[in-house]
Amino acid sequence: MKPKVYVTRLIPEKGLEMVLAFCDAEVWQGKLPPPREVLLGKAQEVEGLLSLLTDRIDGQLMDAAPRLKVISNMAVGYDNIDVEEATRRGIIVGNTPGILTDTTADFAFALVMATARRIPEACRYVRDGRWKTWGPKLLLGWDIHGATLGLVGMGRIGSGVARRATGFGMRILYYDVVRREDLEEELGLEFVDFETLLERSDFISLHVPLTSETHHLIGTEQFRLMKPTAILINTSRGPIVDPQALYEALKSGQIAACGLDVTEPEPIPMDDPLLTLDNCVIVPHIASASIATRTKMAAMAAENLIAGLKGEMPPHPVNPEVFGGI
Ligand code: DGY
Repeated sequence: MKPKVYVTRLIPEKGLEMVLAFCDAEVWQGKLPPPREVLLGKAQEVEGLLSLLTDRIDGQLMDAAPRLKVISNMAVGYDNIDVEEATRRGIIVGNTPGILTDTTADFAFALVMATARRIPEACRYVRDGRWKTWGPKLLLGWDIHGATLGLVGMGRIGSGVARRATGFGMRILYYDVVRREDLEEELGLEFVDFETLLERSDFISLHVPLTSETHHLIGTEQFRLMKPTAILINTSRGPIVDPQALYEALKSGQIAACGLDVTEPEPIPMDDPLLTLDNCVIVPHIASASIATRTKMAAMAAENLIAGLKGEMPPHPVNPEVFGGI
C-alpha cells in the first residue's frame, strides 16, 4: 500500500508526478493555502506532508498527526516549521537548499537596480501619461557601479549577490557571525562589524534566516546609522525588518529607498502605509520564482518526502539528528 501524504498546494508537475508515483497523495487545489482546520484534519491520516512556507507546521499540528514521519518544505527557509518539536517527535524535516541560490541572488540584484534607478516609479510615470519630454532632472537615481554594497549574511545567497556585485565594480562589505576568509580573498570582500556596515554602505542587502536573533534586526536604531542615500534590499524574510521603523525611515528621508521581496505580514495588507511610498518597491515573495528553479525545488521536495517515507535520510535534511546524523 502506498503511504498517504498531503501536499498543501499544486506544485510544479515534475515534483508532483514524483509524489504521485510513490504515494497515495491528496493535493490541496486552492490558490490560497489550506485553512488551518483543513490542515489539522488532513494531518490526522498522513505519514508525509509536503508543505510550503505559507503553512504553519507547529506542535499542535504534529499532535494532530500521529503517523507523521516526514515534513518536506518546498523552500530553503523553514521558519514556518517548529523543527525542535519535529525532532522531539522523531519527524524528519527536509528543505530545498542550493538550487535557488543563483535565481534568488539574481533577483536581489534586480531589486538593487530597480530601486536605485527607480524603474517601477518610472514605469508608472509613463503609464500615467506624464512623459512629456526628456528632462535633465527627471527621475534621477543612484549609481550602482562604484557604490558600496553591505551584505548582511555571507551564506550561499549572500555570496551569490557578492559575485554579481563584483561585475558592477562595487566595493563589498559583509557582516556574518561566521567569517569567510576564503571569499574575502576570492571576491575582495571586507569583513566589518554590523554597525560599520550600516554606516558605510550605499546598498544594504539582507541574507540571514529568520530566527529569534534576527527578528527585527533592522529597526529604528539601525536606520539611524544608515546614510540618507542608503537603499535597503530584503529578499530573506519580512520580519527581519521592523516595518513601522522602515516606514518612518523612508518617509522622513532617513534612508533613500528600499526593495522588498518579503514583508511582515505576507501578503502586505492593502492599507499598509509602505504601499503609499514611491521609494518603496514591493514584490510578492518571488525571488526564487523562475520556471527552472521552482521545478527543481518541487523535485527536491519530492525526493526529501519519498526518502523520509521510506525511513531513509532525505538528501536535504534540516534535522538529521532524527536519523542519528549531525
Ligand atoms: C525560500 O525558499 O525560503 C524562499 O523564500 C522561497 O523560495
